[in-house]
Amino acid sequence: MQEEQPEILKKERRNKQYASPNGMHDILPVSWPAWNHLYKKVNELAHDYGFGRIETPIVEQAELFSKGIGAATDIIEHEMYLLKSKGGDTLALRPEGTAPTVRAFVEHGMHVWSQPVKLWYWGPMFRHERPQRGRYRQLWQFGFEVFGDEDPAIDAEVIQLLTILFKELGLKDVSVQLNSIGCSQCRPYYKKTLLHYYRPHADKICANCRRRMKINPMRMLDCKDERCVRVKQNAPQIVDHICEDCRHHFKNLLEFLEEINITYFLNPYLVRGLDYYNRTVFEIWPHDEVAPGQEEAKKDGEEANKPKEEKGSQFALAGGGRYDNLVKMLGGRTTPAFGAAAGIERIVHELKRKNVKIPEAPAPRIFLIQLGDMAKRKSLKLFEELRNNGISAASSFGRDSIKSQLKIADKLGVEYTLILGQKEALEDTIILREMLAGEQLTIPTRKLMDVLKTKLAKKPKRKVPRTSFFQVE
Ligand code: HAM
Repeated sequence: MQEEQPEILKKERRNKQYASPNGMHDILPVSWPAWNHLYKKVNELAHDYGFGRIETPIVEQAELFSKGIGAATDIIEHEMYLLKSKGGDTLALRPEGTAPTVRAFVEHGMHVWSQPVKLWYWGPMFRHERPQRGRYRQLWQFGFEVFGDEDPAIDAEVIQLLTILFKELGLKDVSVQLNSIGCSQCRPYYKKTLLHYYRPHADKICANCRRRMKINPMRMLDCKDERCVRVKQNAPQIVDHICEDCRHHFKNLLEFLEEINITYFLNPYLVRGLDYYNRTVFEIWPHDEVAPGQEEAKKDGEEANKPKEEKGSQFALAGGGRYDNLVKMLGGRTTPAFGAAAGIERIVHELKRKNVKIPEAPAPRIFLIQLGDMAKRKSLKLFEELRNNGISAASSFGRDSIKSQLKIADKLGVEYTLILGQKEALEDTIILREMLAGEQLTIPTRKLMDVLKTKLAKKPKRKVPRTSFFQVE
C-alpha cells in the first residue's frame, strides 16, 4: 500500500527522475507494524492448522503458468511478465503461488509424504494489470494449499482458517462468497446451456464477452460491463446443472460451514479468473462490497443473492477453491487439492480503512544524545551495552545540536534522555535527564545500568505516543 503523502511530496516524487515502476511500490517503515502483525497471525494460524512453509522461486518456466492457469485467462493473455534467460528459456515472474506449489509437490515426490500435504507461502507475485487502488503489478500474497484429500471438510477448514484470521485481525465485517463450478463431467453440459442462452444476446454484450463465448464462456458471468451484467441476470446458474457427485460435495461443504457457524453467500456468478478450479470456488470480500440484497440472505443461500458486479472480485481480500486436476496436468499423479490466497496490501489497506488498532513493539523509554566525536564513539559502545541489558533506546547519531536531539526525544515521548557530551566522555560520566520534570543528574557511567534498571522498573509516568522514530524524522 502506498504510504499517505502530502500533495507537495507526491508532486516532488512525480518529478523525480526515477520512481518505482508503475503499479509497484515501496513498503516504508511506517507500514511494517501492520505487515508484521498480519505475518505473525498468518504464521501462527498456519502452524496451528498444521501447514508447513514453502517458498518457491520468483521465476518459473512460463509454460507452468500457461498450462496450469489456462491459456485463455486474463493472467496468461495479458498479465505475464516474461523474460528470456541467456540459455534461451522463457521464464515468467510468478503471477500466483498455486502452480509453483503444485510444481514443487510433483518435483519433490510429495505424494509419498503422509497425506494430506499442507503447505503455505508468503511473497510477492507479479501481474501486468492496469494499476489502480487495490490492484498492483507487484502484489504480495500469502496462500495455503492442501494436497491429497477431496473431502469437503478440507474446503471448510481452509475457509475457516481465513475467517478466523480476519476475525482475529479485527476485520469482522467480511463475507464469504461461495459457488460450485462443477467438474469435467458436468461443466461441458453447463457451458452448452450457457452458450444456448447467450447466443441470441450476442449483440447485447461487450466485444470481450463475444470473444469469451468462443474461448472461455464461463468468464462472461463475471464481466463487469453494464450490458453484460444486464444479460447475465437471467443466465442459467451452474449450481442447477452440476452432477450428482458435485452436488453432494457442495451440499456437504455447506453443512460443514453451518456446523462451524460460518455465514456464507451463494454467488452464482463467482467463477474465478483461473482455469484450474473445479467444484468449490470462494472469495472473501469486505462486507460493504456485498451485493444489495445479500444482507438479508440466509445461510441456506436463499435467492436474494445478487452480487454487486462493479466491485466484486476487484476488492476480494482472498480467493481460492478446489483444483483436483492440476497436479496431474502438471505431470504428477491424480491428487485432489484445495487452496486459497489472500492479498496482503488489500488486507493492510482494510485494516487502515477500518481503523483497526495495530499492536506495535513498545516504544523506547530512553533517548541517547551525543555531542562531539569522542561522545559519538562512546555512545556506540553504550548503545550496545544498553541492548545487552535489555534496555531499548532510540538515538540520533547524525545530529550535533542538543536542541534538535532533545526535540526528537520529546516528540518520541521518551521518559529519560541520556546526554553524553565531550566533558562527560572525558570524565566517564553521563547526564540523565527526566523529561517530564526537566531535572538532570550526572552519574558515573559504570553505575548507569543499575540506575536505569531501577528507574525503568517503575510504571511509565508519560504516555508514550504511537509515533514511530521514522515519522519524527
Ligand atoms: P487470486 O484471486 O488471483 O487467486 O488472488 C488472490 C488474492 O490476491 C485476491 O483475492 C486479492 O486479494 C489479491 N490480488 C490479486 N490480484 C491482485 C492485484 N493485482 N493487486 C493486489 N492484490 C491482488 C490466486 O492467486 C490463486 N492462486 C488462489 C488459490 C490458491 N487458489 C487455490 N489456491
